[in-house]
Amino acid sequence: MTKRAFSAFKPTGHLTLGNLLGAIMPAVRLQDEADCVYAVADLHALTVRHDPDRLRARTLEAATLLLACGLDRSLVYIQSRVPAHTELAYLLESTAYFGEMRRMIQFKEKSAGQEEVRLSLLTYPALMAADILLHRVDLVPVGEDQRQHVELTRDLALRFNRLYGQTFTVPEAVHPRLAARVMDLTMPTAKMGKSDGSVAGTIYLLDPPADVRHKIMRAVTDSGTEVRHDPRDKPGVSNLLTLLAACSGRPIDSFAHQTYGALKRETADAVVETLRPVQERYAELSADPAELARTLAAGAAGAVERTADLMVAARRAIGVL
Ligand code: AMP
Ligand code: TRP
Repeated sequence: MTKRAFSAFKPTGHLTLGNLLGAIMPAVRLQDEADCVYAVADLHALTVRHDPDRLRARTLEAATLLLACGLDRSLVYIQSRVPAHTELAYLLESTAYFGEMRRMIQFKEKSAGQEEVRLSLLTYPALMAADILLHRVDLVPVGEDQRQHVELTRDLALRFNRLYGQTFTVPEAVHPRLAARVMDLTMPTAKMGKSDGSVAGTIYLLDPPADVRHKIMRAVTDSGTEVRHDPRDKPGVSNLLTLLAACSGRPIDSFAHQTYGALKRETADAVVETLRPVQERYAELSADPAELARTLAAGAAGAVERTADLMVAARRAIGVL
């Protein structure tokens, strides 16, 4: 039987090269073998301080970018347009325990030292589990940082099935072989991310080529001069080699640069060439907002239709239907 896949992207900021290599490109490749659904997880962006107008703009930008990156053979939609996500999330909040939510690494990191921690930051993994389980998928292409949340999703699915009868498919995370954790260019020991990294060390998918080159040429490298892949002792150089390999489609050991400068120049070229078609397609799609709106409305309608059965089964099983 054809496998099914689902993943989602939070519009808390502009999408980054980490998103592209860690999850979007693997998702694009999965389209060859699986029936795929991808969403912009705008509800997940409400877990931290946000500005409503900016969220709206970034949600549309992220959805357009997913299509521009090549997810055009999938159903693509905006999470909040499909109410079943929050409906199922509540059933899963009633399946999950406070203790396991509190122990999530991302919750601990994002809540540490904060005075006003939104309750949704704690319950967020139940909503993420709902996103996945709603679609009865086998595969979830995500970066390394989401491994624990997918594990929790599996635990919740198994627990629900055991307590109330077989309802959910138990999914599996799919991580790319390379680039499951792209690091910040200025702090190669921190993840490149919309909120985790620094602007100077993060490449955004819509960065103009000159900015991409500038950021890569100024990337922090390591002491010494030898170009070698060794994430522990040479995190900066290893990150550049990973970007170069992932963007050029060649294995890391096929590169033999003599200097850090040469490595940076070739990496900058490869990243610029990877982003070029995405940016061109983004401009085309953005030029026709009505068509874009139709595509996303069709995606949401498709998702409502595909998830109706599961929602009925889950409500019956837990006793609210
Ligand atoms: P987020 O931007 O946090 O919604 O992440 C969306 C997807 O991109 C998730 O699957 C993340 O694991 C993945 N991702 C985010 N940042 C990185 C990174 N620096 N390296 C690899 N994957 C990433
Ligand atoms: N929580 C994910 C992140 O921060 C985004 C996300 C939301 C997601 N729902 C999902 C990823 C469902 C995979 C499947 O990156």
